[in-house]
Amino acid sequence: MYNAKAYSAASAKSPLASTTIARRDLTEHDVLIEILFCGICHSDLHQVRNEWSGVMPTVYPCVPGHEIVGRVTKVGSAVKKFKPGDLAGVGCMVDSDGTCPECQAGFEQFCPNMTLTYNSPDKHTGGVTYGGYSDSVVVDQRFVLRVPSNLNLAGAAPLLCAGITTYSPMRHWGVTKDKKVGVVGLGGLGHMGVKFAHALGAHTVVFTTSPNKKEDALRLGADEVVLSHDADEMARHAGSFDFILDAVAANHDINAYIHLLRRDGNITLVGAPEKPLALAAFGLIMGRRSLSGSPIGGIPETQKMLDFCGQHNITADVEIIPIQKVNEAYERMVKSDVKYRFSIDMASLKSE
Ligand SMILES: NC(=O)c1ccc[n+]([C@@H]2O[C@H](COP(=O)([O-])OP(=O)(O)OC[C@H]3O[C@@H](n4cnc5c(N)ncnc54)[C@H](OP(=O)(O)O)[C@@H]3O)[C@@H](O)[C@H]2O)c1
Ligand SMILES: [Zn+2]
Ligand SMILES: [Zn+2]
Repeated sequence: MYNAKAYSAASAKSPLASTTIARRDLTEHDVLIEILFCGICHSDLHQVRNEWSGVMPTVYPCVPGHEIVGRVTKVGSAVKKFKPGDLAGVGCMVDSDGTCPECQAGFEQFCPNMTLTYNSPDKHTGGVTYGGYSDSVVVDQRFVLRVPSNLNLAGAAPLLCAGITTYSPMRHWGVTKDKKVGVVGLGGLGHMGVKFAHALGAHTVVFTTSPNKKEDALRLGADEVVLSHDADEMARHAGSFDFILDAVAANHDINAYIHLLRRDGNITLVGAPEKPLALAAFGLIMGRRSLSGSPIGGIPETQKMLDFCGQHNITADVEIIPIQKVNEAYERMVKSDVKYRFSIDMASLKSE
C-alpha cells in the first residue's frame, strides 16, 4: 500500500477536507494513474450528503470523484493496453466479475458484482473504494479508457460520467437526424445531452428552469429552448417528441414531460433525485408512452463515446477550480449555478 493525497467527507454534514488515503500497490493487471482533472458530478454531492441512503448508503470517510482524466505513471507486468506517459480516463466503475452475461455483453454497468469507483466494497483492501478527488488512483486495465489526445483534458474529464450517461440512452433509443429530442435540465449531464443530440443530428429542444441559460443552450446546439415554468410554451410542444432525456437532480413534475411525447415516445430518467417522483398513469397509457431509466454505460460503449468525442471535438464546458474551492462548488451546484461542469485541477492538491 502507499499513501495518496485526497479530499474526503467525514460525515453527511461535514465539508470535504484534505486527507491521506491508502491505495493498493499495483497487481499485474493494474494501471497507476496520476490524476490531472476530476469533474464534479451531482452524484458526488448526493453521495457525500448521504441523499441516497435508501439505495446506497454512504460509508465515511467518503472520497468522491468518478470523472477522472490523468496520465499513466506505472503499469503492472500483464498490462498491454497502456504504458507510462499515456493519457487515461476512469469513470464510475473500477471492477466487475467479467464472467456474467452482462459483462460478456459489454454491459459491466449491470453486472451484479460491479465495483463503483467510490463508496463500493474494495476487493483489494477490504475497505471501501476511494474516488478521483485525489492525486492518483490504481485501476484494473479493463476499466481504464483511452482519451483522445486532441481533447482539452479539463473538459474531457466529465465525459467519463456526464458524457456516457447521456450518450448511452440516446444511442439506445435511436436518436438520429429525423428525431425530435428534448433535454430537461441544463446542468452537467444536460449540456452534454444537448451536444450529443445536436451531433447526432436531432432537432434538439432544451427545457430549463433558468431563463439566464437560454442563450447558452442555443450556443451549445439546441434548436429551441423552453422555459419549463411557462405553461403556454410547454403546451405548444404537446405530443411531439420522440425522446426526452430527463437530467434533473431534484424533485420536479415528470408528467408535464410525458405529455410532450408522441405515440410510443420514450422519456428516460438519468437524473436521480433524493425523493421519489410522482407518476400519473394516464400520461403513459394514452399514447402508449414509456418511462425508462439508464445508468452510465458499459466500458466498450464508453470508449466508443470518447472516440466519437475525439472525432467531433466534443468536451464539456467547464469551470476549472482548485480543490480548495470544492465546498463552494457544491453550494453553487445545488443552486444550478455552474456553467456547465466544475473540473478540479488536481495540481492544486500538491500544496496540501
Ligand atoms: N443515471 C446515471 O447514471 C447518472 C449519472 C450521473 C449523474 N446522475 C444524476 O443526474 C442528475 C443530474 O446530475 P448533474 O451532475 O447533471 O447535476 P447538475 O449539474 O446539478 O444539473 C442538474 C440540473 O437540473 C435542473 N434542476 C435543478 N433543480 C431543479 C428543480 N428543483 N426543478 C427543475 N430543475 C432543476 C437544473 O437545470 P436548469 O437550470 O436548466 O433548470 C440543473 O442545472 C443528478 O441527480 C445525478 O445524481 C445520474
Ligand atoms: Zn456522475
Ligand atoms: Zn459481470
